[in-house]
Amino acid sequence: MNLLGPAVALVGFLSASLASADGTNTTLLPLTFNPFTLGSITPSGWLRDQLLLSAEGLAGHQHDFYPYVANSSWLGGSSEYSGLNEGFPYWINGLVPLAYAADDARLKKQVSDAVTYVLDHQAEDGWLGPETGKSRNLWARYPLLLGLMQLVEAEPQTWETPVLGAMSRFVGLMLTMLKANGTGYLWHEGDGLSEADTTWGRVRVQDLLITLQWLYERQDSSDALKGNLTESMELLIQGAINWADWWQEGAFIKGDLNFLSTEGSDGPRYPYEHGVNAGQGLKALAVFRRFTHNDTLVDITKKGVDWTFQYHGAASGGILADERLAGLAPYYGSETCTLVETMYSLSYLYSAFGTNAYADLAERIAFNALPSQLSPDWWARQYVGQPNQGFSQQLSNNPFFNVNNVGQTYGVENDYPCCTVNHPQGLPKFLSHAYMRVGSDGIAHALLSPASLSTTLPNGAAVSVNCSTTYPFATTLSYAITASAPFTFHVRVPTWSNASLSSLYLNGSTSPSPLSPSPETGLHAIALPAGSSSLTYTLHAPLTTSPRANDTLTVSRGALVFALSINSTNTSAPASTYRDPSAPLAGAPPQARDWSLANASAWNVAIDASTLVLRSSIEDVGSNSSSSSPSNTAGQQLANPIFAPAAPPVWVEASGCEIGGWGLYRGVMDVPPPAEQRRCIEGTRRTVRLEPMGAAKLRVVDLATIDVNVDG
Ligand SMILES: *[C@@H]1O[C@H](CO)[C@@H](O)[C@H](O)[C@H]1NC(C)=O
Ligand SMILES: *[C@@H]1O[C@H](CO)[C@@H](O)[C@H](O)[C@H]1NC(C)=O
Ligand SMILES: *[C@@H]1O[C@H](CO)[C@@H](O)[C@H](O)[C@H]1NC(C)=O
Ligand SMILES: *[C@@H]1O[C@H](CO)[C@@H](O)[C@H](O)[C@H]1NC(C)=O
Ligand SMILES: *[C@@H]1O[C@H](CO)[C@@H](O)[C@H](O)[C@H]1NC(C)=O
Ligand SMILES: *[C@@H]1O[C@H](CO)[C@@H](O)[C@H](O)[C@H]1NC(C)=O
Ligand SMILES: *[C@@H]1O[C@H](CO)[C@@H](O)[C@H](O)[C@H]1NC(C)=O
Ligand SMILES: *[C@@H]1O[C@H](CO)[C@@H](O)[C@H](O)[C@H]1NC(C)=O
Ligand SMILES: *[C@@H]1O[C@H](CO)[C@@H](O)[C@H](O)[C@H]1NC(C)=O
Ligand SMILES: *[C@@H]1O[C@H](CO)[C@@H](O)[C@H](O)[C@H]1NC(C)=O
Ligand SMILES: *[C@@H]1O[C@H](CO)[C@@H](O)[C@H](O)[C@H]1NC(C)=O
Ligand SMILES: *[C@@H]1O[C@H](CO)[C@@H](O)[C@H](O)[C@H]1NC(C)=O
Repeated sequence: MNLLGPAVALVGFLSASLASADGTNTTLLPLTFNPFTLGSITPSGWLRDQLLLSAEGLAGHQHDFYPYVANSSWLGGSSEYSGLNEGFPYWINGLVPLAYAADDARLKKQVSDAVTYVLDHQAEDGWLGPETGKSRNLWARYPLLLGLMQLVEAEPQTWETPVLGAMSRFVGLMLTMLKANGTGYLWHEGDGLSEADTTWGRVRVQDLLITLQWLYERQDSSDALKGNLTESMELLIQGAINWADWWQEGAFIKGDLNFLSTEGSDGPRYPYEHGVNAGQGLKALAVFRRFTHNDTLVDITKKGVDWTFQYHGAASGGILADERLAGLAPYYGSETCTLVETMYSLSYLYSAFGTNAYADLAERIAFNALPSQLSPDWWARQYVGQPNQGFSQQLSNNPFFNVNNVGQTYGVENDYPCCTVNHPQGLPKFLSHAYMRVGSDGIAHALLSPASLSTTLPNGAAVSVNCSTTYPFATTLSYAITASAPFTFHVRVPTWSNASLSSLYLNGSTSPSPLSPSPETGLHAIALPAGSSSLTYTLHAPLTTSPRANDTLTVSRGALVFALSINSTNTSAPASTYRDPSAPLAGAPPQARDWSLANASAWNVAIDASTLVLRSSIEDVGSNSSSSSPSNTAGQQLANPIFAPAAPPVWVEASGCEIGGWGLYRGVMDVPPPAEQRRCIEGTRRTVRLEPMGAAKLRVVDLATIDVNVDG
C-alpha cells in the first residue's frame, strides 16, 4: 500500500477546498464557545499549587540556566538542540500562560525581556528569528506566534502595538515567500532546507493558522492585512500535509505499528505517525474548517480522535507513541510533549465544536497522564511515561520505536530536550480553557477544576465566578457568583456522569434543581439574576472498570484513573546532558536532578475486580452517598504536592495477590500472562491499594484480574 506515497503533497494540493464553496466568503466560521482572554481565569486550590510548583520548578528556571532557552539563537546565543531552532519558541508558548496563571512577576519579566529582544531583532524584511537566507523555515514561528498572541491578550496596553506591528510585517514577508514557490514551507530540491525540515511545518500548520485567524478577527486589523492573511491561509492549507488524508480507511494504521509497519521515520506516513504531530494534529481540521467552511471536517475530526484513542490510546488519555504511534500495549510510552499538545488540541476542539467527549479527554490527561510524568516537585519530567511502569531507571533494552534506555526516567533533559522546553504549556493552557463564553450572555465551566473567572460579557454584564472544589479528588463544585446584570451560567456534565443522579443546589436551597444537559455539549444552563448567587454542584461518579487488552482492566472514578501503587527507592544525581548521560549539565541548579526509581514492592500483582472499594478521607463515598445532601468537600485543604505517592485523599482497595509467570519484554514489564494461566503465588494474597495515577510514579494502570478465591 503506497496510498500516502510521494503523491500525498499533490493530493493535499488538489483536494483542499479554498475559502468556502463559493470562493468568496472569507468570514471565519465561529467557534462554538469562545475562550476568555488570558488572565481572566485564575487558579485556586490544588490547581494553583501545581502551577506554582511548575513556576518554581523546571519550567520557571529554564531562562536562568537551560542553554536551549537562556542561550538560544533567538536570544543571541547559539545553543540549539536541532536545526529547527524550536527550543525558545516552545518555551515562550508555555511560559506566557504560566507566568500569568501563577501571577509571577519574575516570570513575567523573563517573558517581557525575551519578547523585547526578539521584536527588537526582527529582520528588516519582517522575518522573526535568527535564521537568514535559505535556512528560513516557517515552523518554529508557530509556537512563537502563539506565545505572542497570548501575551497581547494578557497585557494589551503594553504589547498590542509592538506585537501586532511585528506580526503584520511577518505576515507580509511570509506571503511573499509562499507566493515564491512556497519558500520556507514547501520543499524544493536544492534550497537550503531538508525535506524533513519542511515536513514539520506542513503537518503542524494549524498551529500557525490559529494565530493568523486571531489576527484576522481583531477589529483593529486593516483590510490590507486581512487580505494578506486570507491569501496566506489559502496557500498554507493548500500546501498542508492534510490530516483528512490520514483519518481514512486504508490510510490510518489501526494495529501495533511495531509489528505491522516496515517504514522508518523517513517513510511517507511518518508525519502522521509521529506522536507530537498526532497530538497537535487532532485540532487541524477544526482550524481549517473555520476558513474553508467545509463541514465534513467535523465528522472526519471525530473519526480521527476516536481512532487515535481506540487504537493508540492509554486509559490515562495519553496517546501511546514513543516518537511514533505504537499500539495498545501498556509497555509503550507517551511523550510528555505529546500529552501537553493533545490537551491543547482537545481544549481547542471543545471550544470549536462543543463535543462533550473532547472536554472529558482533556481533563483525563490533565488529572492523570500529565502529573504521572512529572516529579512531585515539577523539577523533573519523563520523556515517555508507560501505563505499566514497574520501575523507572536505566534500562538494558526497551520496547520503544525511537526513545533511548533512559527515556522513561524522570530527569531534566533525558532522551531529548523537546519535552523540557514544551512541557510548561500543559496546565496553564488547561486553565485558560477552564471557562468559555457561550453566546453574548453565557459562561460555561467547561474544564472542571478549581478556578475563578472575572470578565465582562458582550451583553455588558460584569461577572465573577469563583469555584472552590477538590475535584477531581471529590465530586462537589461550589460556586460563588456575582453579576451586574442577568446572565446564563452553564455547568458541564461529563459523559461519565449520570445527570439524573447528579445534583445542583441553588442559593443554599435544600431541594435540588434537576439537571438537563445538552446531549451534544454536556452543558446545563442556569439563568442567574443580577447580584450574588451560589451553586453547589455534585456529580454522580461511581467507581467503574473498563476493559483493556489481554484480560486487563482499568479502574476509574469520574475523571480520575487509579493505578496499583508500587513503592519505590529513589536515588538521584545532578542533571546530565541528553547527548552524554555521564556529562553533567553545566550551570544547572541543585534541584535539577535525574532520578532512578527502583521498585520496593512487587509489580506482578493481579486484583479481584469484584472486590474493588473506593475510599476517601474527605468525602462520604458510602453506597448511599448519591442520595445524601451535598457533602462539604469543596473547601478541604489537600496535600501539596498532591501528585506524590500516598498524598491524594482518595484511593481504592481490592483483594489481590502476586502472580507467577509475569516477566519482562525488552527490559520492561511485559503484558501479564493470559487469564487462564494466572495463579496466586502462595502467601501473597492481600489487600492491594490503588491510588490516583498522577501520584503513582511507579504504577500498573492496565491491571491483571484474577479470582482470588481460586487456588493456584
Ligand atoms: C471537504 O474536505 C474533504 C476532506 O478534505 C474533501 O474530501 C472535500 O472535497 C471537501 N469539500 C469541499 C466542498 O471542498
Ligand atoms: C459568510 O460566512 C459567515 C460565517 O459562517 C456567515 O455568517 C455569513 O452569513 C456568510 N456570508 C455570506 C455572504 O454568505
Ligand atoms: C551561554 O554561552 C556562553 C558563551 O558560550 C557561556 O559562557 C555561558 O555559560 C552560556 N550560558 C548558559 C546558561 O548556557
Ligand atoms: C501585505 O503583503 C505584502 C507583501 O506580500 C506587503 O508588501 C504589504 O505591506 C502587506 N500589507 C500589510 C498591510 O501588511
Ligand atoms: C519557482 O520555481 C521555478 C521552477 O523551479 C523557478 O524557475 C522560479 O524561479 C521559482 N520562483 C521563485 C520566485 O523562486
Ligand atoms: C497481548 O498479548 C500478546 C501476547 O503476549 C501480545 O503480543 C500483544 O502485544 C498484547 N496486546 C496488547 C494490546 O497488549
Ligand atoms: C523520589 O522520592 C523522594 C522522597 O519521597 C521524592 O522527594 C522525590 O520527588 C521522588 N522522585 C520522583 C522522581 O518521584
Ligand atoms: C474564592 O473563594 C475562596 C473561598 O471563599 C476565597 O478564598 C478566594 O479568595 C476566592 N477567590 C477569588 C478569586 O475571589
Ligand atoms: C441514570 O440514572 C437513572 C435513575 O437511576 C436511570 O434510570 C438511568 O437508566 C441512568 N442512566 C444511565 C445512562 O445509566
Ligand atoms: C441568591 O440570593 C441572593 C441574595 O442572597 C439574591 O440576590 C440572588 O438573586 C439569588 N439568586 C437566585 C438565582 O435566586
Ligand atoms: C509501601 O510502603 C508503605 C509505607 O512504608 C507500607 O505501609 C506499605 O505496606 C508498602 N506497600 C507494599 C505493597 O509493600
Ligand atoms: C520488584 O518487582 C518484582 C516483580 O514484581 C519483584 O519480584 C521484586 O521483589 C520487587 N522488588 C522489591 C525490592 O520489592
